[in-house]
Amino acid sequence: MSLKRKTLELLRRREQAQQGGGEKAIEKQQKMGKMTARERILALLDKESFHEYDLFVEHDSREFDMADKVFHGDGVIIGTGTIFGAPICIFAQDFTVAGGSLGFMHARKITKIMDHALKLRVPLIGINDSGGARIQEGVNSLAGYGEIFYRNTLNSGVIPQISVILGPCAGGAVYSPALTDFVFVVDGISKMFITGPEVIKTVLGEEISMEDLGGARVHSEITGNAHFFANSEMECFEQIKKLVTFIPWNNSRKALAFKPKEPKSIYNIEKIVPGDPKLPYDVRNVIRAIVDDSDFFEIQEHWAQNVVIGFARINGDTTGFVCNQPIYLAGVLDVDSSDKAARFIRFCDSFNIPIVTLVDLPGYLPGVDQEHAGVIRHGAKLLYAYSEATVPKVTLIIRKAYGGGYIAMGSRHLRADFVFAWPGAEIAVMGPEGAANIIFRKEIMEAEDSDKMRKQKVKEYKEKFANPYVAAAKGYIDSVIEPKETRKLLVHAIEVSKEKSSSIPKKKHGIPPF
Ligand code: HXC
Repeated sequence: MSLKRKTLELLRRREQAQQGGGEKAIEKQQKMGKMTARERILALLDKESFHEYDLFVEHDSREFDMADKVFHGDGVIIGTGTIFGAPICIFAQDFTVAGGSLGFMHARKITKIMDHALKLRVPLIGINDSGGARIQEGVNSLAGYGEIFYRNTLNSGVIPQISVILGPCAGGAVYSPALTDFVFVVDGISKMFITGPEVIKTVLGEEISMEDLGGARVHSEITGNAHFFANSEMECFEQIKKLVTFIPWNNSRKALAFKPKEPKSIYNIEKIVPGDPKLPYDVRNVIRAIVDDSDFFEIQEHWAQNVVIGFARINGDTTGFVCNQPIYLAGVLDVDSSDKAARFIRFCDSFNIPIVTLVDLPGYLPGVDQEHAGVIRHGAKLLYAYSEATVPKVTLIIRKAYGGGYIAMGSRHLRADFVFAWPGAEIAVMGPEGAANIIFRKEIMEAEDSDKMRKQKVKEYKEKFANPYVAAAKGYIDSVIEPKETRKLLVHAIEVSKEKSSSIPKKKHGIPPF
């Protein structure tokens, strides 16, 4: 056969394999409002950048009636490509082929591209759309999952790992996304759970829909498993592309710098924060008032909203923001917000991204619920993450910084490089009312007019302690600054920290309070 005819034969085979599960299955996928695996990859990556590998891989299972079945590509597409020129390794499970179920060869393809990503030191994106372990392949498919989890763990902190849930992600399959850095979900399409509605009905007698059990909203608002929520697949891909612009390819690089841009003038920093410390404000407006182009890319926007995390640029450089949010629970720290902030800090630290912390909180949330939910253990994660992080750390105390909250939110004592405070900052063991009631209890009780005495003592306490100058006198704060100086100082602090060198004692690894 001539090379020309052999090439034609290749094209015929390629076209056949690229059809995945065939017309009917593709129609079913479209009826569910879902794109096919191939359409997803092409929509996400730069035009004509995708190169596929292992297109002709087939399953080798002989059990049940598998011997006669052809599963093109064994239900998963793998390859390399680029996003805005950044190299990417990618896999996308193809639900049209055996429900995207994970058999031995399917898993081998995924682990091959994971190994590539680690060797090439480039981000890995996994698009999950699968019925889980391929039932006919028994322990071989379980082994496949184990191999994936192992690689997710080794890759962690070396290359960014991104999971996209665009269909079912059931049973043990959920643990691969859970081991990765960012999980994207789409309303009405993503479903993630360990045991499905049928098992729950059989075992517990409870009826629940897949959506209510583990839909996109559940994981964005309740469990915190998802980091980004989108209303459509195309919106989700735009979010992924934007994320890729903020992060480096691997842990020995920095994120690519952009051209610096001034914040938009509609965010007037002097007008955002009310003088009365009891009045709330949206901390995202403070962020927008100080970052390039007022562009803040929020992560886990709908979960544990009392802390706000995300990326922005300061003078062109990617910066991670960790901020108390006074419009939710007065910005207190609790179990979920500690988890959320701690994990993000560890991502920034692994990938050379400086951290800016904006502080305004009354402390940790008191109450039996929080104590019993483990606020000690979860709260400790935040202390651990800040203490361990060696990237540049810049902290700004906007208003309240009370008690453990003062220490936990990137304080000097956890080795912030620069600590600034606005003139309205109040740094103390607790709020003036609580403090005065305790230390002046006797005077208040014995006074003829207890209320008047209490007010007087609160005022005295405020004047003495609830200001930034006691901390500034000890050098715990480097500068008390005017609000309008904030951006200038942040730009400077990050600029002068570019070559920061700091390390923690040599060890195999620490033991964070998981
Ligand atoms: C083999 C599977 C499969 C699986 C789906 N299919 N899941 N084949 N193994 N796990 C096949 C179906 O037989 C069907 O084939 C095709 O994929 C499409 O599936 P449908 O059921 O028709 O689709 P739909 O109605 O949309 O339902 C999707 C689904 C459902 C909700 C995902 O298929 C389902 O419940 N599947 C099983 C989920 C599950 O329990 N998986 C195992 C979890 S345990 P045909 O030929 O008819 O087109 C697990 C352990 C891992 O994963 C542990 C690791 C630590």
